[in-house]
This record gives sequence, structure tokens and C-alpha cells, in this order.
Amino acid sequence: MRRILVIGIGAGNPDYLTVQAIDALNRVDVFFIPDKGEEKSALRHLREEILARFVGKKRYETVGVDIPRRRAAGEDYRGAVDDWHAALTSNYENLFERHLTDGKVGGFLVWGDPMLYDSTLRLMERLDVEVEVIPGITAVQALAARHGIALNHIGEPVLLTTGRKAMLGLPQGIDSVILLDGDQAFAHVPGDYDIFWGAYLGTKDEILISGHLSEVKAEIEKVRAEARQTHGWIMDTYLLRTRR
Ligand SMILES: C[S@@+](CC[C@H](N)C(=O)[O-])C[C@H]1O[C@@H](n2cnc3c(N)ncnc32)[C@H](O)[C@@H]1O
Repeated sequence: MRRILVIGIGAGNPDYLTVQAIDALNRVDVFFIPDKGEEKSALRHLREEILARFVGKKRYETVGVDIPRRRAAGEDYRGAVDDWHAALTSNYENLFERHLTDGKVGGFLVWGDPMLYDSTLRLMERLDVEVEVIPGITAVQALAARHGIALNHIGEPVLLTTGRKAMLGLPQGIDSVILLDGDQAFAHVPGDYDIFWGAYLGTKDEILISGHLSEVKAEIEKVRAEARQTHGWIMDTYLLRTRR
């Protein structure tokens, strides 16, 4: 059976790579590099930097993967994602057939960690491959580290969710980390929160803002819009911590 290493590369700083990840990079013969539109050049650059810096003498090949566009989700978000995964799966079947010959090992460099809002493992489940997962540092860990905070109140839960879900309402009294937020949900959620916000975490463009949500949300909106304009894309995440 073909062997695939799904390697978490951390969420923005090459120094986030673990020793286990570096070891795994040096076992891969063919890296499959998905092309994800607007974020692509910055992310591709980081992946290239990681390979150049951490792969020793081993010869490897990189194969770009065109990601088909996902149809507009409308009401049926799960259905749209499912169709998209089916298209991606058949793409990978063909690529593995072509490039993973003679026992070659395939590899994916997954932003952050593969267990958090990433499709790679779900896609691999659909294929006849043996998968090994190497964990990485997530954007959530980077956020907490850069703000120098613990994520949870003592003995309390933390919800990980998306901007899309947050717009529909957050559970009262629970702290939440919001990822994938195109809508700036923090500016709309009711509740008495402190926010710990971070953009481009771990990179040279990193921005951190924290404070009482009602006092800093206008500043975050402004800084976020300017950064997005400057870079052409943005990746941000934040903790909404209930005030006690
Ligand atoms: C598709 S999810 C992937 C998460 C990733 N697997 C991880 O472990 O961090 C992408 C979202 O993660 C967050 N994110 C990832 N990297 C980030 C970074 N360097 N700075 C801020 N947010 C980041 C953003 O909310 C972004 O929309």
C-alpha cells in the first residue's frame, strides 16, 4: 500500500517545525503541494523555505496540485464540501498513480496541524493509502504563545469554531477561539468579552491586539482591513474570553 506522511509544519514560522517533522521531511520522495488561490505565494514561499532549510541530502520531487474551485455553498455547505472532496480525491488518485511508483513515499506539508480545520486527513481516508500523521503547532497555540496567555480559565472548556458559526451565535459564558473568519464575527457577537487577536502569526508581518472587545474592536477592524489591503490576503484568529 502507498505510504503518505501528513506533516504539520506549524502555522507560520519555520522554527515551529518539530524534530519529528524534520525527520519525516527527510523520508518523503514526493511532496504534493496544493495551490490555494490568493494565499498561495506567501504560503508556497514558506513551504519552499522549509524544504530548503530542513531537507538534507535526500532527493525529492515537488508536485503542484491544482485545487478545483468549490461551488458556492448556499444552504448546503456539507454537500458542497463533499462534492469538492470527491473531485480532489480523484485528482489525488491520478497523481499518486503517476508519481508514487516503486515504493516512493508521498508527503503533504500541512499548515499548522492536520487535525484542525484541514481536509487532508479526510481526503486520505477516501484513498487506499497508509497514512502517518506528524503533529504541528497550530495557529491556536501560536496565538496563545504570542499573547503569553493560557487558553482556558481554570477547569473551563474552550470552543474552537469558525467565523461563520460565530455569526450564528456563540454559547453564552463559554470562551471561544475563532478561525476562518472572513466576516469579522468579533465585531458582531454580543457578550462581554476580552479579545486576543493575532494575524499572520509567527511571520514577520505578525500583528497582535488585545483588550476589552468593546474598546478594541474598531481598531482591529481598521488594522485588519489595512493589512488585508497591503498583503492581498489575511489569516487571523482570536480568543474571545468571557469576562468574570
Ligand atoms: C484552514 S484553517 C487551518 C488551521 C491550521 N490547520 C492550524 O493548525 O492552525 C486556516 C485558519 O487558521 C488560522 N490561521 C492559520 N495560520 C494562522 C496564522 N499564522 N496567523 C493567524 N491565523 C492563522 C486562520 O483563522 C485561518 O483562517
